[in-house]
Amino acid sequence: MKLFVIGATGRTGQEIVQQALARGHHVTAFVRSPKSITLKNERLSVVKGNATDENQLFEAMQNHDAVISTLGPREVFKPSSLLNDSALAASSAMQRSGVKRLVVLSAAAHFPGIPNRIASFVLRNHMRDSLAMEKIVQANGLDWTIARPPRLTQEDSLNYRSREGAAPRMGFTLSRKAVAAFMLDAIEQKKHLRKIVGIAK
Ligand SMILES: NC(=O)c1ccc[n+]([C@@H]2O[C@H](COP(=O)([O-])OP(=O)(O)OC[C@H]3O[C@@H](n4cnc5c(N)ncnc54)[C@H](OP(=O)(O)O)[C@@H]3O)[C@@H](O)[C@H]2O)c1
Repeated sequence: MKLFVIGATGRTGQEIVQQALARGHHVTAFVRSPKSITLKNERLSVVKGNATDENQLFEAMQNHDAVISTLGPREVFKPSSLLNDSALAASSAMQRSGVKRLVVLSAAAHFPGIPNRIASFVLRNHMRDSLAMEKIVQANGLDWTIARPPRLTQEDSLNYRSREGAAPRMGFTLSRKAVAAFMLDAIEQKKHLRKIVGIAK
């Protein structure tokens, strides 16, 4: 498949790129700083662009099979509309270019009853933006999947549990490697179409 990755320079995004290449896919990494991508592979293209610019996204995503977004603000405490703005731009670009499959990374904190009020307060700006992104994605008419993991780790594990519409029981962390595995599995296996999916270790 030909995969278009937004947020490819991030910790989860790098896992997506590496695992997608290892699975034999072609990958376009759409990034603001191409020099951040040091990986070389004949199936990897790096395109410089702004993740909130619909026209740049449209130009770059022609003829791809799916879009994956692992975007996130580098400063999570500051007010930002990055996820909202990128979801709007990417959704419109996908509608125009005919790319239908979208898998985005969100957060388990949006499930009701996730009991971490302090984290929710500290991250309230990011959570607001992330929820706005989810609303845009759910209304875009595309074949979307929203992945909601708990706290992400650098653990060396590809294993995850997933549950549509709810967080897996007693799942408090997940490795970024496993997030990437879930997002790629969802695309390859055409699973979780138009679903919010809780994922955890
Ligand atoms: N951390 C957790 O425990 C946790 C838990 C649940 C969910 N999540 C979700 O997972 C997401 C990804 O996490 P992560 O740790 O992989 O993120 P990360 O390592 O911080 O990577 C963020 C990515 O977003 C890009 N980005 C940031 N600001 C940008 C901007 N203004 N324009 C274009 N690109 C921009 C970064 O590009 P540059 O390299 O150019 O900066 C990078 O590729 C988070 O945003 C959060 O919503 C995180």
